[in-house]
Amino acid sequence: MPAQSPRFRSVLDQFAPYRPGGRVASPDGRSFKLSSNESPFGPLPSVTEVIAAAFADVNRYPDNGAAELTEAIARRHRIPPEHVAVGCGSVGVTQQLLAAAAEPGAEVVYAWRSFEAYPLLVRLAGADEVIVPIRDETHDLAAMADAITPRTRVVFVCNPNNPTGTVVRRVELENFLDRVPPECLVVLDEAYAEYVRDPDVPDGLGLYRDRPNTAVLRTFSKAYGLAGLRVGFLVGHEPVATAVRKTLLPFSVNTIAQAAAIASLAAEAELLARAGQVVKEGLRHGRIRPWVGLLITRPLAIIPAVLIIGIRGNSSVTDLLVLSQVILALQLPFAMFPLLHFTSSRKRMGKWRNGWFLLLTGWGSALLITAMDIDGLPAAFKGAWIVITGH
Ligand SMILES: Cc1ncc(COP(=O)(O)O)c(C=O)c1O
Repeated sequence: MPAQSPRFRSVLDQFAPYRPGGRVASPDGRSFKLSSNESPFGPLPSVTEVIAAAFADVNRYPDNGAAELTEAIARRHRIPPEHVAVGCGSVGVTQQLLAAAAEPGAEVVYAWRSFEAYPLLVRLAGADEVIVPIRDETHDLAAMADAITPRTRVVFVCNPNNPTGTVVRRVELENFLDRVPPECLVVLDEAYAEYVRDPDVPDGLGLYRDRPNTAVLRTFSKAYGLAGLRVGFLVGHEPVATAVRKTLLPFSVNTIAQAAAIASLAAEAELLARAGQVVKEGLRHGRIRPWVGLLITRPLAIIPAVLIIGIRGNSSVTDLLVLSQVILALQLPFAMFPLLHFTSSRKRMGKWRNGWFLLLTGWGSALLITAMDIDGLPAAFKGAWIVITGH
């Protein structure tokens, strides 16, 4: 007898399920999970109180239309409530959106790498994905505009982009939006909008107003610290928001989540100040690391100098100074690379690599000098160095 099994959509064979950021457990049992870019802070006391009070109502179904939350979002952003569609996290809203706009034969354009959920949700919707590789870790908006065909229903622009942390700025984004035909929807995924400090990065909520084919995704999961409760929303013109509301899985934004999101909007100033702390910490991390690397590796460069002089049997302090300065001088161009690197958009990458790079270049320079005769150091080099350092 042939083996029989229930049948499933063939699309399920094409991808592994969504892989959330890994869980960590420190040896003392405490862990600080940030691998999904969630807020490191727990809920504010005012929000916790509201969450506790909302527990009393869990025998009831939630408000399916999330009317109070929708009003609160609309008030906060000075937009009509008809322009808001709330869902189960912004990833839930993305799925609703694709259920509303995509179908077999339709195309959805997105950059790669970008948010992990796009390929999964697009394939699940049965649409054809059109993947446009990022350039310099940033959306290649010109190529994305070129990739739009009459079959394209949706284009995702993740700004800032997860996982690269890069942004697209006003002029390039507006130029791109101007090129998109009106029947194709551009979705600006702004899950990290509250962390943006670059004034050239436009707020999608300003851009969508004059553009009926532009919508914005926002979430309470990141800066508002409610990742575990799953609330996100779309802002778009009425036909877009209405279509997205139609595909909501009934009651999927629960009562506690709705209440907590409203309370978080009320406590927004405090939450945004926390987000500001995260930004400051991130910048401090990005800017200081290379200097820390230099501070550590510069004294380390003296060690090979001491060793070389020891091996040579020459204990002259002047020689030691000159030699260590030469090693440092050789290190400097390499040190500049990570400095430039860190002030570029690649803040998140290569921190440790840079530290090791500095260390290795220090020792590499030492090796180079060992191969030279110290007394035979080019006089000009020595002289130039003495002019620079005063030694
Ligand atoms: C770019 C981007 N969009 C959307 C989401 C999903 O957020 P939510 O928790 O609202 O579903 C994430 C989460 O990591 C994200 O990085």
